[in-house]
Amino acid sequence: MIDPIELFKDTFRRAEEASRYDASATTLATATSSGEVSARIVLVKRADAEGFYFFTNYRSRKARQLAENPKAALVFFWPELGEQIRVEGAVQKLPTAESDRYWAERPRDSQLGGLASEQSQPLESRERLLARVAEVESQFEGRTVPRPEYWGGYLLVPQRIEFWSNGDHRLHDRRLFKRRSGTWTESRLYP
Ligand SMILES: Cc1cc2nc3c(=O)[nH]c(=O)nc-3n(C[C@H](O)[C@H](O)[C@H](O)COP(=O)(O)O)c2cc1C
Repeated sequence: MIDPIELFKDTFRRAEEASRYDASATTLATATSSGEVSARIVLVKRADAEGFYFFTNYRSRKARQLAENPKAALVFFWPELGEQIRVEGAVQKLPTAESDRYWAERPRDSQLGGLASEQSQPLESRERLLARVAEVESQFEGRTVPRPEYWGGYLLVPQRIEFWSNGDHRLHDRRLFKRRSGTWTESRLYP
C-alpha cells in the first residue's frame, strides 16, 4: 500500500509547481476543551514520517486552545490541482532546538515581527505595533534576533489523512488513510 505521507509529498510538490500563491498556506482548525472551534491559515513548513509542522506564537488563541485540547485538523486546498487534503490528529510542541533552527532560517523582518507581536492580544492602535517593531529593531541593531520563548513550532501527528480529487460528473475521488498502532489502512469514501 502507498504511504500517505509519501502521497502527500508528491501532491505537495505538484501544488508548489502549479500554485500562484504559497502552496503551504493551510487551514488549521483547533477547539477548546468544551468544543468551541476556530480556524485560521498557517504555513505548514514541513511534512515527514513524524507528521506536519507549523510555527506560531505560543500565547496565541490557537496555542491556548491546543494547550487545553491538543488535537487539530488541517485542510489543504490547491485550486490549480483541484485537490484537497484533510489531516486530523494530535498536536505536540516541538523541542526548543527545532524551533531555534527554524527561527534562525526566518528573514530578519519576520523575526522582528514575531518578537514584537503579542499575537491574538488586543492592540490599541496600528501605531502601537509599529512602535513595538521600531523598539525591537533598535534593541537588536547589528545583532542576531533571539527566538523568544513564546514563539515556536508544533507537530501534528496524523491519525487520519484524506485525499480528495476532482472527478468528472461530480464523481470526486476520496481516499482515506487511517492509522492504528502505527499502521496505515486505506479505504474509499463516497464523494
Ligand atoms: C497566508 C497566511 C499565512 C499565515 N501563516 C501563519 C503562520 O505560519 N503562523 C501563524 O501563527 N499565523 C499565520 N497566519 C496568521 C493566522 O491566520 C492568524 O491570524 C494568527 O495565527 C492568529 O490566529 P489565532 O488568534 O487563532 O491564534 C497566516 C495568515 C495567512 C493569511
